[in-house]
Amino acid sequence: MLKSTILLAAAALALAASPAQAKDERAQARFTCPDGLQVDVQIFQRPDLESGNIYTGFDATFSNIPASYTAGHAWHVHQTPVPAALKDGQNDCDATGGHLDPAGVKKSGSSYKCDPKNPLSTCEAGDWAGLVGNIVATSDGQLRIYYTSPDPAFLPTPYNLTQHSVVIHNASGTRICCGNITKLPTKCAPKPK
Ligand SMILES: *[C@@H]1O[C@H](CO)[C@@H](O)[C@H](O)[C@H]1NC(C)=O
Ligand SMILES: *[C@@H]1O[C@H](CO)[C@@H](O)[C@H](O)[C@H]1NC(C)=O
Ligand SMILES: *[C@@H]1O[C@H](CO)[C@@H](O)[C@H](O)[C@H]1NC(C)=O
Repeated sequence: MLKSTILLAAAALALAASPAQAKDERAQARFTCPDGLQVDVQIFQRPDLESGNIYTGFDATFSNIPASYTAGHAWHVHQTPVPAALKDGQNDCDATGGHLDPAGVKKSGSSYKCDPKNPLSTCEAGDWAGLVGNIVATSDGQLRIYYTSPDPAFLPTPYNLTQHSVVIHNASGTRICCGNITKLPTKCAPKPK
């Protein structure tokens, strides 16, 4: 009796772990803005072995934040990559489309407000400022923001996000810099014990 329970538990763990291993994906966006802001966004997908759910999230580090970032600078995932061709010597951020919103959460003509507690129905998948807040000046010029989606269905996977870009806006909404999201090598998930 005891033995069969253990076997069953082991089988359940293997079931939960094997698709999860295949889903371990990482991507990143790293770039420096003309005003000196350094952006390092690490995007990950991680299995939760207990529930079997796959969670996607990001670990964003902003460094050398200018003191002028008082009102807060919004940042988002935009629909298309940054074109290879520069515009006026800079990345052409105006050519990255709108915010990533595959679920069509934002409806034209109606008001939009991302409620981080209810992201699936109120937030564009790319509205990361709406989810975690804007980039604001800090005493040491550093800001680190870690986010894991409470709903596995909310954020696209890291590899899907590599078809898109990260854009920083200034307080007037002007796109001041941007960078592609690129794929990182898959890190092997630990083998189930
Ligand atoms: C961004 O990615 C696209 C598509 O992969 C590529 O064509 C483009 O050159 C990249 N842009 C920059 C600025 O690296
Ligand atoms: C992610 O990419 C896969 C194939 O690479 C595709 O089948 C799937 O529809 C994409 N999902 C989203 C949310 O874009
Ligand atoms: C945002 O950038 C634009 C273009 O450089 C500039 O004209 C505008 O004054 C900036 N807004 C703020 C609040 O800094």
